[in-house]
Order: sequence, then structure tokens, then C-alpha cells
Amino acid sequence: MCHSSLSTQPKPTRYPQTVPIVPAQPPFSEDLCGRATAALAREFERKTVCVIGYGNQGRSHALNLRDSGVDVVVSGRAGSASRERAKSEGLAQDDLAPAIDRARLVIVALPDQVHGDVWPEIESHLHTESVIGFLHGSSVHFGLVRPNNPTSIVLVAPKGPGTALRQRFVDGVGIPAQVGALDPSAHGSFEVALAWAAGIGCARAGLIESSFRDEAVADLFGEQSVICGGITALMESSYRLLIEKGIRPEVAYIECIQELKQIGDLVYERGIAGMRRAISDTAEAGINHAAPRIVSAQTESVLQELLNEIESGAFFQSFVSKSNDGSSASAAQRAQCESSSMEVVGARVRTMYEAKREHSS
Ligand SMILES: NC(=O)c1ccc[n+]([C@@H]2O[C@H](COP(=O)([O-])OP(=O)(O)OC[C@H]3O[C@@H](n4cnc5c(N)ncnc54)[C@H](OP(=O)(O)O)[C@@H]3O)[C@@H](O)[C@H]2O)c1
Repeated sequence: MCHSSLSTQPKPTRYPQTVPIVPAQPPFSEDLCGRATAALAREFERKTVCVIGYGNQGRSHALNLRDSGVDVVVSGRAGSASRERAKSEGLAQDDLAPAIDRARLVIVALPDQVHGDVWPEIESHLHTESVIGFLHGSSVHFGLVRPNNPTSIVLVAPKGPGTALRQRFVDGVGIPAQVGALDPSAHGSFEVALAWAAGIGCARAGLIESSFRDEAVADLFGEQSVICGGITALMESSYRLLIEKGIRPEVAYIECIQELKQIGDLVYERGIAGMRRAISDTAEAGINHAAPRIVSAQTESVLQELLNEIESGAFFQSFVSKSNDGSSASAAQRAQCESSSMEVVGARVRTMYEAKREHSS
């Protein structure tokens, strides 16, 4: 009996999958945004916010809070170049002890892997009124930071990079954030977190109440499985395969990497269903043809493995210890990526997408 490769047997399909419907758990965005705006007017009146660190996120938090009328002081380690930058951008800056001493809210805007090292010093300067804010849940949830007073610890995790947080604020809008208190019964601290979220513009967009655990696990998993790990691995493998087949590198780059921007924008603005409506029938047929094989049972077991390593804390512990003992491969891999021929091609491709006004009239 002859078996055709286009078998008539129905194959088990994993895509599109049925996504479980989880009812929204109140309080959701609308309730919190109004509360946050009211809290901003109340919580920081004649009070100071200390931002420790002036990098990707710290700069945007400090500038947005200042522009919301909050008294801000930037701090960090002695001799810090970024403290000097804060000063040159018109912000007050001071050493840790005096800056924390006069602050109602102390925002820890430092790389997660250094939180354990700096926490004892930060904690030694806190006073009974201090509320301490983190921008991501991992260091607290996975025990790198073990606060003596959990009721003073809050979370405002903007859902986007610092550059977007600042730009959207300047444009009069915001990006959403997850907001929470380590001790859910600490209502006073939670109100301060809401005020902070409003001050950086996130209450103009949306606020989602969240535990440190939920923010940490979802954020790490999304980065690894899709937005940073999964997507870039697919881009690089697919690009390599096309050039091995003799396709011009610029074309391979556009098809497998550069065009993600347009598809990403469609998904951002219209959802996956809206993106499906906007692309060609051929492209949509390609989704149905390829997706079940790319996300196979094996891929799903890898995703499950990654999630287990995140939930158990194994990933975060390994990340912190490799950062501390200098065995992290990130710097070497970043350098390797920067010097790859793919990046040279990418730079050439990007010039084609730059606005060339002189030719457009
Ligand atoms: N990157 C993002 O867009 C993003 C998005 C969402 C959440 N977050 C969260 O925001 C937090 C900050 O991340 P980030 O990316 O903004 O950090 P970052 O840009 O790498 O932070 C740089 C700042 O940290 C200081 N710093 C670095 N190492 C230090 C150390 N050992 N001791 C004291 N100060 C040190 C630097 O000061 P010097 O000038 O002295 O070096 C600089 O002010 C993290 O919790 C992260 O998970 C980040």
C-alpha cells in the first residue's frame, strides 16, 4: 500500500491552540489608575523620592517624577558617572545616607544582580517612614534581597524599556505597569507605589496589581521564550539557512529580521487576529503550515523546562552567581554578535529604511 506524504489522516494539531480564559481579577486597571492619580497628589507632597541608579530605567523614573512635580534626588555609588549625568540634566544628587534619609520613597534602579551586594547598605540608612521600590520582582522573590521590614517593600514594573517610559511620558501618554506590595496588607506602602506609578506616567496607560512572584516569573519567561530568546534564535537560524541557499544576505536579513517590526507593530496594534487579517492569504497559510511544526511537542517541553528553571529560582541564582564570579558568557556573546557579518548586513539594511527626504519630493 502506498502512503502519500500528504496523508489524508488528520494530524494532531497544536496550533492554533485553545487558550484558557482566565477572568480578570479585580482590582484591574481602571480602578487603580484613578486611585494612583489621587495618590500622586497626596503621597509626595513636601516629600522626596530618592532614585538609586541613573541608567536605563532610573533616568526615566527620575525625570518623569521630576516633571510630575515631585522633589527627586538621585543617588548611587561614590564616583558614579551616572550621578554626574543626573546633575548635568538638572537633577539633585547626593550620597546614599543623606539621600535616603530625606526620602519617603527609595527606588532601587540598579541591575538586578547587584541588589544583594548593595541592599545591606541601603537598608542601614532606611527610617521608619521609608518605602522601598523595586522595578522588577526577581531579586526580592528569589531571596537575593531579604528585607527586615517586608511591609515597606513595593514594586512598580513598567512594561517596556526606560527609553519608551520617558518618550511616552514626554508625548503625554504612558506605558502600563505591574504594581504591588510585598505584604499585601501593607496598604500605606501600596498607596505610595500607586503614586510612583502615576508620577512616571503609567497610570495614563494601565496598572495591573501583581505579586513580586507573578511579575518575576512572567517577565523572565516572556523574555526567554519569546521576545528576546525565542525570536532572536529563530531570526538567526532562519537568516543563516537562507544565505546558505545562496539568497543575498540583505534579502535574507529583511525577510527574517527586519520585517518583524511591521508584523510586531500589527500585533501590537491589532492583536494576532488583526495581524492575520492584514497579511496576505499566502502568508496566513504559511502560519498554519509552519507554526505547528515550529512549536512542536519538543518545543513545548523545552518551554516547560525553562519555566521550571525560572520558577524554582535556578535560572536567577545561576545568573547572579555567574555575574558575580565573572563567568557569565553574556559579554563575550554580545561581542561575538556585534562583530558578526549578520550585523554588518543589518546596518546596511537599516540605511534603506531611514527616511530619505531629499528623494521623496
Ligand atoms: N532595562 C530596562 O529597560 C528595564 C525594563 C524593565 C525593568 N527593568 C528593571 O530596572 C532595574 C534597573 O535596570 P536597568 O536596566 O535600568 O539598569 P542599568 O541601566 O544597568 O543600571 C545602571 C545604573 O546602575 C548603577 N550601577 C551599576 N552597577 C552598580 C553597582 N555594583 N553598585 C552601584 N551602582 C551600580 C550605574 O551606576 P554607575 O554610573 O556608577 O555605573 C547606573 O546608575 C532592574 O531591576 C531591571 O530588571 C529594566
